[in-house]
Amino acid sequence: MADTYILGIESSCDETAAAVVRSGEELISSVVYSQIAMHHPYGGVVPELASREHLRAIVPVVRKALEEAGKTYRSIDAIAVTQGPGLAGSLLVGLSFAKALAFAVDKPLIAVNHLEGHIHAVLLEERQNANNDLQFPVLALVVSGGHTHIYLAERRDSGWTYRNIGHTRDDAAGEAFDKVAKLLELGYPGGPSIDFLAGHGNPQAVKFPFAQIKHRDRNPENRHSSEERRTDFSYSGIKTAVLRYVEVHNMAASIQRRREAMKPVAKPKPEDYLAACDRQTLDLVASFQRALVDDLVSKTLAAAVEHDVATLLVTGGVAANSELHSTFEARAAEEGIPVLFPSRKLSTDNAAMIAAAAYPRYLAGEFAPTDISSDAALRLG
Ligand code: KG4
Ligand code: ZN
Repeated sequence: MADTYILGIESSCDETAAAVVRSGEELISSVVYSQIAMHHPYGGVVPELASREHLRAIVPVVRKALEEAGKTYRSIDAIAVTQGPGLAGSLLVGLSFAKALAFAVDKPLIAVNHLEGHIHAVLLEERQNANNDLQFPVLALVVSGGHTHIYLAERRDSGWTYRNIGHTRDDAAGEAFDKVAKLLELGYPGGPSIDFLAGHGNPQAVKFPFAQIKHRDRNPENRHSSEERRTDFSYSGIKTAVLRYVEVHNMAASIQRRREAMKPVAKPKPEDYLAACDRQTLDLVASFQRALVDDLVSKTLAAAVEHDVATLLVTGGVAANSELHSTFEARAAEEGIPVLFPSRKLSTDNAAMIAAAAYPRYLAGEFAPTDISSDAALRLG
C-alpha cells in the first residue's frame, strides 16, 4: 500500500502542536510550541491567554512541521485535528484552522479524540521500533493534567474501540501534581519539578493513609452500579492532606522564602528549585509522589489482573514521571504483564499522536463532515 502522510494538529490545552506521520508508523516531524512560560506566573493555564496564543502560533507551527517533513499543504494526504476534550477556546482555534485548511487544499479532515491520541503515542513508537506484535487484551492508563482514565482497547479490522472501565472522581493525577506544586511554590507545571525533587527527599517521611486518597462517592447511583466493579481514582484528598500538613507544620515562611528566592529566576528549571527547598519540603514532596504513584499503580494493576490483560499501556503527561515508570515496571513484571510507555517527548501533548490515531480512520474512510464542531467534554469509550 502507498505511504500515507497525515498532518496532525493539536491545540487542546497549552501546547500548539503540528506533526507529520507516515502511515501511522513513522514520525517524520513534530513541532510543539509550549505556552508554559506565559502561564507560569499564574500557576496554571489561563484559558483566554491560551486561545490567543494558539491563534498566534498555529500558522508558523504548522508551516514548520511541514517544512521539516519536506512536505507542502498539497503533498500531504489528510489533515487530522483534536476535536476534544480540552479547553473550548483552544480547541476551536485548532479545529477552525484545520477545517479551513482541509477545505482550501481539498484534503480529507479527520477528527481525533485527544485521549485516543495519547494511546496512539505509544502504538506509534512501538511500530516505529518494529514491535508490531501487540498482545491483546490491552489496558491503557491515560494519566495527564486533565485525565486519569483506564480503557480496555481492542483492534477491530483496521479500527480501534475503547471501553472506559475507570476514571478519577475528582482531580486528575497531573492536576494533583500541579496543585501541590503551586501550593509549595514549585512552579508550573508541577510534575517535572516534583519528579526531580522527590529523588532528593525521603518518601517514607510523611504517611498519607490510603483513606485520605480514597473517596466515597456520595451519589449512591455511582456506587458499583455497573455490572462490573469500576476502578476509580480520587486525588483531591491527597492534595488537601498536603495542604493540612503545610498548615500544621507552619511551612508558610519556608514557602515564602522560596517564592522570594525564585523571583529573579526567569525560566526556572526543576534543578533551580532544589537549592530553595529545605529537607521538610523535599520529604513532603517525595512522600506525596510515593503515595500517589502507589495508588495509581496498585489500582491499574488490579484492573489489569481482573480483566486478564496481556499488555498495559501507560500514557499522558504524568507517564513521564520517573517513579511511576520504575514502579510500574517492577510491579507489572511481578504480575507478568508487559508495560509500554511513550518516550518523554510523546508523553506530554503533541500532534504526532493525533496524526497516528487518525491513520486507522483514514484507512476506513472515516472523515469529518464540514460542519464538525469541537467538543470540550468529548468522551472516549
Ligand atoms: O498530557 P499533558 O501534556 O496534558 C494534558 O492532556 O493534560 O499532561 C500535562 C500534565 C501536567 O499536569 C504535568 O504536571 C504532568 O502532566 N507532568 C508530570 C511530569 N511531566 C508532566 N507529572 C509527573 N511527573 C512528570 N515528570
Ligand atoms: Zn494530553
